[in-house]
Amino acid sequence: MAKATKTGQFVYIVQASREPTRCKIGKTNDTERRLAEYNRMTGKSKDNRYEYLFVAQVSDMAPMEKAIKNRFAILREEKSREIYFYNHELFRQYVDYIKKSPLFVQEVFIQPTAPKTLTKIVKRITPTLKERGLTRKEVLQKAQKVDDDEFYTLYEDIEKEIACYDKSIWRDKTVFCNCDDAVGKDETRTSAFALYFISHFTDLGLKKLICTHYSGAVDLFNAGTSGYIFTKDGYTEITISPKGYTGSFDHPLSLKILNEETDIVCTNPPFSKARDYWKLIIGSGKQFLIVSNIANPVTNAFIHYFRDKKVWAGHNRIDQYLNPKRQLVEASGHWYCNLPIKNRAKLGHLTIIPLKDIPDADKSYDDNKMLLVDNCYIPSDYKKPFAVSARPILNGVLESGYDIYADKGYIPVINRREKFRRVLIQKA
Ligand SMILES: C[S@@+](CC[C@H](N)C(=O)[O-])C[C@H]1O[C@@H](n2cnc3c(N)ncnc32)[C@H](O)[C@@H]1O
Repeated sequence: MAKATKTGQFVYIVQASREPTRCKIGKTNDTERRLAEYNRMTGKSKDNRYEYLFVAQVSDMAPMEKAIKNRFAILREEKSREIYFYNHELFRQYVDYIKKSPLFVQEVFIQPTAPKTLTKIVKRITPTLKERGLTRKEVLQKAQKVDDDEFYTLYEDIEKEIACYDKSIWRDKTVFCNCDDAVGKDETRTSAFALYFISHFTDLGLKKLICTHYSGAVDLFNAGTSGYIFTKDGYTEITISPKGYTGSFDHPLSLKILNEETDIVCTNPPFSKARDYWKLIIGSGKQFLIVSNIANPVTNAFIHYFRDKKVWAGHNRIDQYLNPKRQLVEASGHWYCNLPIKNRAKLGHLTIIPLKDIPDADKSYDDNKMLLVDNCYIPSDYKKPFAVSARPILNGVLESGYDIYADKGYIPVINRREKFRRVLIQKA
């Protein structure tokens, strides 16, 4: 930092190298002296170096610091009030807030680039089916077989989906993330669901957040092998590890939280246990917003939930996740929920027109004379059942005057060759 600006009135964000999920926000007259004080703190190990992430000159540092404390009260640790949660998104919020204040004079320092969490991109670009030498049927079969559970959701995918819903649905609600770690030792060990709801606790007006950590064979987020429960209730945060608790979503204690405390369940549950998970969550009668396989609307075990309107598609698909090595990996997922959906943008992807106007390339009949329509064309004047892929279901056709006709998937056969799996729908 420039020497000329080391004294004056400043607010700063500082971070210790060994505590990447925390930062300290404070005020000082002398930035060099203050940093030296941090690095001389008794009891601190020598290699835990403090560095500034951001320094701003302000016209009056005491009210500025107080305003930050009030604005981000929910993000401050209870015991030591100048310690705040840190992640890239929160950092952006802190900096924006300071810079928008009438007390802000000038930015003195900001860390040049945010540290990268991702170490390597695995298959960044999805090759076309042709490039991959696959048919749609094979891709769908592959998607249905995804059972690797260690796929962690990206923060931005959670942010993007939740932004599509009316904020009022979260007000005074207890959110239960029942396949998620709470805040771990660093950002890479922390569920993005936990981070998102902690960051937006006040903004969404949440009453409580509960996250449970699973202690199964695989160690979720490398966070330890015993199940535990993290609860954020207003300012109070506690983590408990009851004896014998596995953290499984179907453990009696998890079920007690679900049935007695929860208003909304929000998570990305293990793909391999999706059937049990859906049965349990939908059976509980609670509201939910979860990630699951994109092929569920054409998969036998799930079709009846769509037919009975117990579940419908959320807004977005998700194609990339992080693996335990924090590399980007691909799997075709989608959000599903039973929350009210207003203005579904993807309804615009459906083309509902008379059958005769659907291009020939997008309509055909199979060997059983069943009508098949593709590319989200939907016949407006066809009275009999017809077969569609998962896409029209995800785009909201069941909210557009069509019902699921049969609760089993439909595999068309053309010239005795099986085509990719679809689902039968019919005009209501
Ligand atoms: C698809 S990952 C998603 C993790 C996290 N929810 C996220 O979105 O980043 C599902 C996680 O659930 C964990 N899991 C597996 N079986 C579980 C169970 N019975 N109860 C709770 N969690 C489980 C897996 O270890 C895995 O880490």
